[in-house]
Amino acid sequence: MTALILYATHEGQTGKIARFVETELRKAGVETRLADALDTTTDIDFAGVDTVILAAPVHERRHPKLFEAFLTAQQEALERRRTLMLSVSLSAAFPEGLEEAEEYLIEMKMRCRFDPDAEALVAGAVRTSKYDYFASQLVRHVVLRDRDYDPAQGEYEFTDWAALRKTLSDFLATTPTSQDA
Ligand SMILES: Cc1cc2nc3c(=O)[nH]c(=O)nc-3n(C[C@H](O)[C@H](O)[C@H](O)COP(=O)(O)O)c2cc1C
Repeated sequence: MTALILYATHEGQTGKIARFVETELRKAGVETRLADALDTTTDIDFAGVDTVILAAPVHERRHPKLFEAFLTAQQEALERRRTLMLSVSLSAAFPEGLEEAEEYLIEMKMRCRFDPDAEALVAGAVRTSKYDYFASQLVRHVVLRDRDYDPAQGEYEFTDWAALRKTLSDFLATTPTSQDA
């Protein structure tokens, strides 16, 4: 199996998640390629790839426009491969935010006509050192409004690495290997 891990990140957490996915897949004996969807200088090559793991963060209720453009443009290539979509947001960190986190993903799938074989809502992180004034106000007063966390406490990683490891092993367990073909 050869997996392409395609990610987008603004403050770095989804990049960290993508590297975690790479490490876990390699441990499972999967060949991996890692690519940054927001780096317009690299060509994304699907040759020899049978599995694609996509990871993108939510900012202001949307995944990055360039990431969505990639999904739309590569619709056919993605349909021919097994796909797992990881949607990274802070809403996913709170039980009462899960419905909203799901909405971001549903809206993206509808806009891009993308229908992954598997998907997961992954909790991101608060990275106050990366925020300008606008971002810090938005995270505090909009994203984390009424949530049991005050960003004045500083940086915090909500990502549940054990849950992500389980998502990956469940996905791999249902992905046919070339020997099954
Ligand atoms: C300006 C800004 C807007 C955000 N908007 C949302 C949002 O609408 N909903 C949400 O659940 N999380 C939102 N977040 C939280 C991010 O999804 C979270 O911090 C994630 O870990 C960012 O991933 P990245 O570090 O890979 O960019 C926002 C974060 C920032 C900085």
